[in-house]
Amino acid sequence: MVGRSRVIFILFAVVVVTLCQSSRQVSARLDGEVVVEIQNILDPSRADLQVQCLSGDDNLHNHIVEFGNTYNFTFENNVWDTTLFFCCFQWEKPDHVWLQGGPYNIYMAKRDQERCMHYCRWRVEEEDLYP
Ligand SMILES: *[C@@H]1O[C@H](CO)[C@@H](O)[C@H](O)[C@H]1NC(C)=O
Repeated sequence: MVGRSRVIFILFAVVVVTLCQSSRQVSARLDGEVVVEIQNILDPSRADLQVQCLSGDDNLHNHIVEFGNTYNFTFENNVWDTTLFFCCFQWEKPDHVWLQGGPYNIYMAKRDQERCMHYCRWRVEEEDLYP
């Protein structure tokens, strides 16, 4: 019984992941949509990165990004080119001290429409944030 429910759960998880991936790919092709990608390159601590991004309209809540992994979010620019997302980062160093960075302006329509267009990437380092 336990074995069967585990198999069903795994199948369910695969279906959900597949659905999420396909809907993400479809929506990423829509006109005007911007993908912001944030990668955790917290070397040498290789800590999990906690990311929270907000705009005037949206609170994307806290996300945990393992070392080397990325976190994406997508949105549509508003017609006035005033879209602004800012993000705060925190992580726990190996000595259990928490470090915080931000808020950083991660996406500003006027700055970024030409700089990175539909796909804006950031890499989060221990010392800094790199485009
Ligand atoms: C983030 O978006 C980019 C561009 O669409 C894609 O190449 C990458 O695989 C995405 N990463 C994740 C974790 O979804």
